[in-house]
Amino acid sequence: MSIEGKKIIVTGSASGMGEATLKAYVQAGASVIGMDVSDDTGGLICENANKDGPGKCSYLHVDVSDKSSVSDAFANANDILGGLDVLAHPAAIQRSSDASEVSVEDWDLMFAINVKGTMLTNQIAQSYMKLNGGGSIINFGSISGLRPEPAASAYSAAKGAVHSWTRTAAGSWGKDNIRVNAILPAIATPMYRAARERSSEEENLASHWRNSVPIALGQEYGDPEKDLAPVMVFFASDASKFITGQLIPVDGGQTAGL
Ligand SMILES: NC(=O)c1ccc[n+]([C@@H]2O[C@H](COP(=O)([O-])OP(=O)(O)OC[C@H]3O[C@@H](n4cnc5c(N)ncnc54)[C@H](O)[C@@H]3O)[C@@H](O)[C@H]2O)c1
Repeated sequence: MSIEGKKIIVTGSASGMGEATLKAYVQAGASVIGMDVSDDTGGLICENANKDGPGKCSYLHVDVSDKSSVSDAFANANDILGGLDVLAHPAAIQRSSDASEVSVEDWDLMFAINVKGTMLTNQIAQSYMKLNGGGSIINFGSISGLRPEPAASAYSAAKGAVHSWTRTAAGSWGKDNIRVNAILPAIATPMYRAARERSSEEENLASHWRNSVPIALGQEYGDPEKDLAPVMVFFASDASKFITGQLIPVDGGQTAGL
């Protein structure tokens, strides 16, 4: 389970699961580059992580939907780290959109950040990992990509695409000892809280959120540091070296109810 000295990029590191993942990796002795569009918060999170150590962290700006931004940031990160072992890729957006009303603009934005962003970051990470003899890519899917989501049609379609991409990339890059998996989380973060606020009264009362998590026991969704971060350490470590192409729910059993 050790990740001491591993060279890791974490996208979406300025909030939620990216922030918790970055902190856990630095606490476990890894060398980490955090990346986000939210530079002030991203920089501060990294600075604070460095105070505690024992690993180390630097922050770089990236817009994962922009090919030259991803190429530049990952080249810079690869230079700073001296190689790349792990990409943790939580960066994404979530928006509401009814299937009969979703606009082309919302659809394109969702696919640019959540789907193209996954392809671009994975592809460039793979090119560096290959030189290092292998690595682990950890994408983020969603239960929304498995079940009907009347309130979030574009997000649901985009996460379904992330699932397919994850399996395909795993199939393509296994020969280079690069594994690719996707976490399907149910974790209380700013994204989750914003989605709850946008939900209808009916959805908030129904099993859509609350009763669908069998082991939640008083908490609705999981805790980023206690429930998600240890799994992220496992998938960054060599302990997970025989797992690839999988969609891994970290959701207290939510998907078991589908
Ligand atoms: N919270 C949940 O329960 C839940 C459920 C299912 C799936 N997910 C997925 O888990 C992942 C992490 O979600 P979270 O809840 O921590 O979200 P969050 O909103 O707390 O954090 C997402 C981060 O991504 C960054 N980001 C957005 N667009 C970007 C871009 N173009 N380039 C770089 N960074 C960008 C944001 O600035 C933010 O810091 C996402 O992929 C999300 O879709 C979350």
